Amino acid sequence: MSKGNVYIETFGCQMNIADTERVTARLRTADYEISDKAETADVILFNTCSVRARAEQKVFNRIGEIKKSRGASEPIIGIMGCVAQLEGEALFSDGAGVRIVAGTRATDRLPDLIGRALFGEKRVLDLGDRSEDEEWDVPVVGRHSPYVAYIPIVEGCNKFCTYCIVPFSRGREQSRTPAEIIDEINKLRDVGYREVQLIGQNVNSYRPKTEAGLEGFCGATPFSRLLRAAAATKMPRIKFTTSFPRDFHPDIVSAMDEHENLCDWVHLPVQSGSDRILRAMRRGYKVADYLLRIETIKNAKRRYSLTTDIIVGFPGETSEDFEATLQLIEHCRYDAIYSFKYSERPGTSAAGLGDGVSDNEKATRFLALEQLQRRIQKKLYGDYVGREVSVLVDRQSAKSKSDMSGHTTCNKVVNFPGGEELKGQIVSIRVSEAKANSLYGELV
Ligand code: 5AD
Ligand code: SF4
Repeated sequence: MSKGNVYIETFGCQMNIADTERVTARLRTADYEISDKAETADVILFNTCSVRARAEQKVFNRIGEIKKSRGASEPIIGIMGCVAQLEGEALFSDGAGVRIVAGTRATDRLPDLIGRALFGEKRVLDLGDRSEDEEWDVPVVGRHSPYVAYIPIVEGCNKFCTYCIVPFSRGREQSRTPAEIIDEINKLRDVGYREVQLIGQNVNSYRPKTEAGLEGFCGATPFSRLLRAAAATKMPRIKFTTSFPRDFHPDIVSAMDEHENLCDWVHLPVQSGSDRILRAMRRGYKVADYLLRIETIKNAKRRYSLTTDIIVGFPGETSEDFEATLQLIEHCRYDAIYSFKYSERPGTSAAGLGDGVSDNEKATRFLALEQLQRRIQKKLYGDYVGREVSVLVDRQSAKSKSDMSGHTTCNKVVNFPGGEELKGQIVSIRVSEAKANSLYGELV
């Protein structure tokens, strides 16, 4: 018999999606039902993100909305993930009526924590570490997609970039063993998954306690050995994110050159094009070091799609610093940029620096950056017209019922006329039109 009905809403990065999958699996094993209806669930869990202030605020808005719609039937509200880890006990007393607070490493104890709340405990708090014998494995059923799976390979971050809250919310780096990761890829392949994404805050900081499972695979770093072992599983597509520039060893590119199923996409967040700002951010590299990595990627055997993250308006960023960022973007010609206005995070060391750049100036720089990128992307996407790309079809297009949508190996969105029967297939599409952030084409 079901112990209760749980609805989970997820905010933030792929790591949170992976954590939600893990919690879902643990709850099912413990006889809870997972519901997709916030209106009727006994328990509502929010898996939260705190990377920027706005992400954090979203959760509280959602709690308000849901409480209003539920009227008198009050569900048990729980907060898990980064906000829970950072705010802890304070969340009980902020008026939102939160009953469960479960930190980033409490995922596997959630069935027990929810049980206690259902039994009447008013404030259930767990900010503890993972237990020694915890298993990372998530069953293949009930993932966010039946074709694409996220596989965490390293959790946490040791870098302490001065603006970033992640080392505080996710704790120190912990790597999964290669044997476990390879086993998970094999299982996913056997049930029809076509793509896996190896995820971590810094995948190239991968340092497992043992390399059992990597015997016979060469490579200059544990991560490039893992990539070669992953390629050998014959999973059709393997992607990985995020790479940290300083630790991006050229051998990663060699491994990608050797194996077609290591996909043609590298996400390499630069954050700024000014050495002065990079130093203030404590990123551990200079622009010239970063450009060497880019050169290795550009000189590879295949063309690798390149994406990055940029922060505008870091404290003390002058217009010359920002100009240097624009120049770097012009030089690297990224396939996509994820840009963010600097958001001060309490507890980080940049929080003490004050917030030197006005909101107005941040907005102006943000727009300038977007404009430049739009121009670069227009040309880059335009070059795809007339070419064939391989697309993993995963959904109906949001814009048109007669179109399907999917991703290329280089992570670009492609829409084309087609039916639901193509879902989960890898098809060839001839590109006929380039849009601002996607491609359009016809089945070959
Ligand atoms: N303000 C703005 N952007 C941030 N990021 C991380 N911390 C902050 C912050 N305090 C951005 C970085 C990172 C991405 C995931 O989020 O660009 O690469
Ligand atoms: Fe944050 Fe820097 Fe770690 Fe990335 S490397 S998660 S930006 S501290």
